[in-house]
Amino acid sequence: MSDALAFATRQSRRFREELFDFLRIPSVSAQSEHDADTRRAASWLAENLRSAGLEVEIFETPKHPVVLGEWREADPDAPTVLVYGHYDVQPAEPLEEWSSPPFEPAIRDGKVFARGAADDKGQLFMHAKALEAALADGGTLPVNVIVLAEGEEEIGSPSLVPFVERHKDRLAADVVVISDSAMFEEGLPSILFSLRGLAYFELRTQAAKTDLHSGAYGGAVPNPATALARVIASFHDDDGRIAIAGFYDDVLEWDEKIRAQIRNLPFDEEKFRNGVGAGALTGEQGWSVLEQLWIRPTCEVNGLLSGYTGEGAKTVLPACAMAKVSFRLVPDQRPERVRKLLASHLERVTPPGVEIELLEHHGGLPWKAEVGGRYLEAATTALEEAFGTHPVLTGEGGTIPIVVEFERILGAPALLVGFALPGSNMHAPDEWFPLENFEKGIGALVRLYQELGRR
Ligand code: BES
Ligand code: MN
Ligand code: MN
Repeated sequence: MSDALAFATRQSRRFREELFDFLRIPSVSAQSEHDADTRRAASWLAENLRSAGLEVEIFETPKHPVVLGEWREADPDAPTVLVYGHYDVQPAEPLEEWSSPPFEPAIRDGKVFARGAADDKGQLFMHAKALEAALADGGTLPVNVIVLAEGEEEIGSPSLVPFVERHKDRLAADVVVISDSAMFEEGLPSILFSLRGLAYFELRTQAAKTDLHSGAYGGAVPNPATALARVIASFHDDDGRIAIAGFYDDVLEWDEKIRAQIRNLPFDEEKFRNGVGAGALTGEQGWSVLEQLWIRPTCEVNGLLSGYTGEGAKTVLPACAMAKVSFRLVPDQRPERVRKLLASHLERVTPPGVEIELLEHHGGLPWKAEVGGRYLEAATTALEEAFGTHPVLTGEGGTIPIVVEFERILGAPALLVGFALPGSNMHAPDEWFPLENFEKGIGALVRLYQELGRR
């Protein structure tokens, strides 16, 4: 193993250059104008894994390809580790908000700035380099390794569930390792105990059949923007709880051990508030900020559109309005049930004379780890050795839809160890990843594969 670590240190400059090449490919899965780029990122990754010593196959799907790398030369009874990551990224817009162009990686302040640096190309690539280092110069691993990389995570992983179902024998693994999240704070490595799920909707209201003069018609004809605003306002009560009947029925009571762990984390709510720049924090009363972010469900408006929004004033009574509204879910909530509850709620609260339409976009199930056991121990040892600090257990408010499906289809527990830092601007302008974690993280992953193979 020390050979592998020495190799990684010696090659760190080349590793960084390759990372930059990977980040230069604008693999934006949501934008069809980037379909060829997304495909190029898949081929690039396949080639990179091949030169690391893996056997690699690219699988076509209805949209973006799946990259499958395999190294199966460990002892016949050695465990198999499935590494999952995604090579697609979120759209980079608004471009003018970036300090340097999103697909021209730049280093400032010890950070690599680029779309995908943290989410998730940078972190997926760290696994590729840890494997290369382990296998270099005739090196070997105590585990069989499967690397599964998809190009559709940011659009809800539509092709991956059928892919995993179809190839479940080939993908059989003892543990699934994922690096697509953050450490709790700089220098403090983290292992996740939960992710939230997601149910995402679009609401459209309509009243009159066309836009109307707001003086000639306003007062008698329903306003779909006002109606939609009232509908949205009905989603919460005054205590910040979601006021949709039955919404909390499936919300699991977290055990006191997890809540105590959350309380013991070094978290400063005032510093957090300052960091986001809001005048005050809000949300469901009776829960700490970390609990609100990790173990409580939410309802957020993600987009809102109606009427005239251009220069100057236009006295118009709009014919329609639209909102994108999503719910972050916690175990054991399910998107299908939230949709049913929301539909009945809308029937009850939509004002007379206004039609409302409910459309559903992609979602994902929430995940909660079985905390404890040898995989957690392996990760703890690897992270502690690489970072010199005992890791903490944390939750995350984001969603990785495939995690629950891996556990269901493959029967293998997921181990989530991420290396981004808070404030890394995932999905936002100026996304970044710390170079220090790039290097230490590769070391941690080299150690993790060793630890997972220890018997
Ligand atoms: N890597 C993120 C999930 C994440 C975010 C984990 C923050 C930990 C911290 C993932 O790529 C993502 O963005 N997921 C989407 C859901 C998906 C269905 C589009 C999300 O959470 O919005
Ligand atoms: Mn991600
Ligand atoms: Mn993402």
